[in-house]
Amino acid sequence: MSRPIQATIHTEALRHNLLRARQSSPDARVWAVVKANAYGHGIERVFAGLRATDGFALLDLGEAERVRALGWRGPILLLEGAFELRDLELCSRLDLWHTVHCNEQIDMLAIHKTHVPHRVFLKMNSGMNRLGFKPQQFRAAWTRLNALPQVDEISLMTHFSDADDAKGIAQQLATFNTATQDLPGERSLSNSAAILRHMGGALSAGLVSDWIRPGIVLYGATPDYPEHSAADWGLQPAMSLRSRLVATQELRSGDTVGYGSTFTAPGPMRIGVVACGYADGYMRSSPGGPDKGTPVLVDGVRTRTVGRVSMDLITVDLTPVPQAGFGSEVTLWGSSSSGALLPIDEVAQAGGTVGYELMCALAARVPVVVE
Ligand SMILES: Cc1ncc(COP(=O)(O)O)c(C=O)c1O
Repeated sequence: MSRPIQATIHTEALRHNLLRARQSSPDARVWAVVKANAYGHGIERVFAGLRATDGFALLDLGEAERVRALGWRGPILLLEGAFELRDLELCSRLDLWHTVHCNEQIDMLAIHKTHVPHRVFLKMNSGMNRLGFKPQQFRAAWTRLNALPQVDEISLMTHFSDADDAKGIAQQLATFNTATQDLPGERSLSNSAAILRHMGGALSAGLVSDWIRPGIVLYGATPDYPEHSAADWGLQPAMSLRSRLVATQELRSGDTVGYGSTFTAPGPMRIGVVACGYADGYMRSSPGGPDKGTPVLVDGVRTRTVGRVSMDLITVDLTPVPQAGFGSEVTLWGSSSSGALLPIDEVAQAGGTVGYELMCALAARVPVVVE
């Protein structure tokens, strides 16, 4: 038998989550955000579940080529645009739409030789201070782009820094709307948190997003855990990471577990040893006692890790599952094969991170099946 760890991609859940995003803004078109290899799920593996989208948004040109190789003829948007001049050749060849967020990218476009003018998304830095033109520079950038024969239609975009928290989007939205009010072109504003929390909310009259850009919701995790769980938002996990017990140990009171002996048995107890470690993408920072552990399911029953995560193994408390033994199924996140759920957001929070990071960190050595 090969090492029992395996990730499963749930095609139906992807379909469901995409529909969920669409329902939030029925008039908008959807960029399914599949950057970072579809948030660790694998572009080829999510394609069937997401092909009802209107376009795919990503940032790596190699990933754009992979989407075209899958036969996708619809829109593809490069979320960070061109990194160098020759990227624009690929944009012309593969008909990629691209973001323009700085003057250097306009300079590149101005010297790019193409017979087919490009569709671009001009990005405003409305307050996040990563990419984009400041509001006061935006119109000049638009005017420059509009004068270029290399450019066809110009759409307008920005990205929210706090759509998932109490600060919200009001300030950035007002900045964007004021600076763009008499500029033509489609708008693209909303990421998952804005889709879930703000479309249809108090600010929705000003939140015109002709193209929404859902990422994390497609994969069934929530951008605003613990305020809301994935279930609160009606999302289903698109990935389950499952493994099996490869050993059990009977501990006496005072016995310790794993490197650094960080967990000490408070009394006699049974633990299971799971074929999963940080080399599989399971965060080493996930706590394993003494007071609390990271949640896991053994045979569909919720328990917790004990001791440190090592490269290939973790250890779990079998007290709530006395029948478990060698070969018992362990769900690290997602759903067990019996249908019990362990949201990735809970596992991430225990380790001080977010579901996004766990998904993206799934290691190449983990075999993945699509269901
Ligand atoms: C420009 C842009 N739009 C949309 C998204 C999708 O964000 P989320 O996964 O939170 O929906 C991202 C992701 O970081 C992004 O960078």
